Amino acid sequence: MASLTIRKLDDALKQRLRLRAAQNGRSMEDEARTILRSAAAGADVRAEAAGKPRARRNAAAQPAPTPSGGPLADAKRVLLIIGGGIAAYKSLDLVRRLKERGATVRCVLTRAAQEFITPLAAGALAGSRAFTDLFDATTELDVGHIRLARETDLVVVAPATADLLAKMAGGHADDLASAVLLATDRPVLIAPAMNPHMWQHAATRRNLAHLVADGIAVVGPNAGEMAEAGEAGTGRMAEPLEIAAVVEQFLGTAGGERTLAGKRVIVTSGPTHEPIDPVRYIANRSSGKQGHAIAAAAAAAGAEVTLVSGPVNLPDPIGVKTIKVETAQDMLAAVSKALPADVGVFAAAVADWRVDKPTARKIKKQDGGTPKLGLIENPDILASVARKATGRPRLVIGFAAETDRIIEHAREKLARKGCDWIVANDVSPASGVMGGDRNTVQLVTEHGVESWPPQSKDEVARALVARIAAALAGASR
Ligand code: C5P
Repeated sequence: MASLTIRKLDDALKQRLRLRAAQNGRSMEDEARTILRSAAAGADVRAEAAGKPRARRNAAAQPAPTPSGGPLADAKRVLLIIGGGIAAYKSLDLVRRLKERGATVRCVLTRAAQEFITPLAAGALAGSRAFTDLFDATTELDVGHIRLARETDLVVVAPATADLLAKMAGGHADDLASAVLLATDRPVLIAPAMNPHMWQHAATRRNLAHLVADGIAVVGPNAGEMAEAGEAGTGRMAEPLEIAAVVEQFLGTAGGERTLAGKRVIVTSGPTHEPIDPVRYIANRSSGKQGHAIAAAAAAAGAEVTLVSGPVNLPDPIGVKTIKVETAQDMLAAVSKALPADVGVFAAAVADWRVDKPTARKIKKQDGGTPKLGLIENPDILASVARKATGRPRLVIGFAAETDRIIEHAREKLARKGCDWIVANDVSPASGVMGGDRNTVQLVTEHGVESWPPQSKDEVARALVARIAAALAGASR
């Protein structure tokens, strides 16, 4: 059988494939397989329409499952608030994409949205009537804005116009959409869409910063041509498939049970960058995938999560307050500010050392010889939180990324740092853990060592959250 090597594709094709794969949350190989599968399925349909017999397919080449069995089929509910922008027409496609994935969708349209699309169209696609009015007696007696706000697993605002962002940031509640957004205790994802000048405006920047600080997740906007002739820039709403992929990722991690409701969790994630001069820094290969997955899983379980993240190439998890830092010292400051918490999960790969005297100007080669870098030790964030005399989280969890004698090192770390659990894993190059999507971990506690099976980083995150919830509920630590 012929094989396909992604590496050998031409650069433009590779770039398009990379983008599609990222948008769909798949590896490039999986994306190529999906494209081939749907092309083959399409060819079959066309052949059938032309009266030709179907080509024989093996089981691995079957098309993706039909809507009723989609990845969100466990009755995941999305409340889609459609704002008044030209991108509203794309939200109708988003409804379809979410339904294809098995989600139950309810739509709320703002008054301005109804200038672009009708409640009838949104309701027909969603399979249930769309809601429009705060002061509609039928709606209030039937479902009501509070039930709309609560009877969902996720609220998505798409398109989120500049006006809707301003209302959300200001806590307004003068129409159904804004009242629902103020009343909800569920995670909120916004897909902004507006003219590039409005997106860049200081007022929008301020509102967005407020919303991000409140834990609201953002997807897009993308750069490109605008609906207005001759306008281009950043402001196009993310594509429905991109939004659906983020929703899928979030609802996939949501176990349904809010086992950490009312609990505060701090998670550190990613590497740190320690400057040498304004352009160079010391870093490591941590991708942040495991830490971000833990923050997402804790939020999905109902916790109030603060994620302190070093520089990573990952979207902010939904429903999580994400604070971005560069250095270990910044990370410690952000963690200290985020305390108190019930649980601290320290998954970041913090640089052990930093350069003692980073220079204000770039070190030049012609400055003579090779520069001599003096290093000093960074603060140990995990140990400083675990050893707090007052205000220590009830559960402090560290990670041990080792290349050899994993358990021995983890046990030693547990004692030296004063934490309650260590999640130990093998990060030798052969393991593929660094930057990869899978992880094989061992949980080391004072009671012993548990070896968990190899699983995805999302699964490790969910399993860890389940253990945390059990520990806080009174089971053994
Ligand atoms: O000592 P080592 O770096 O192997 O310890 C790993 C654990 O300690 C991880 O949980 C990491 O997040 C945490 N750590 C920290 N601050 C440091 C170094 C490590 O929080 N400066």
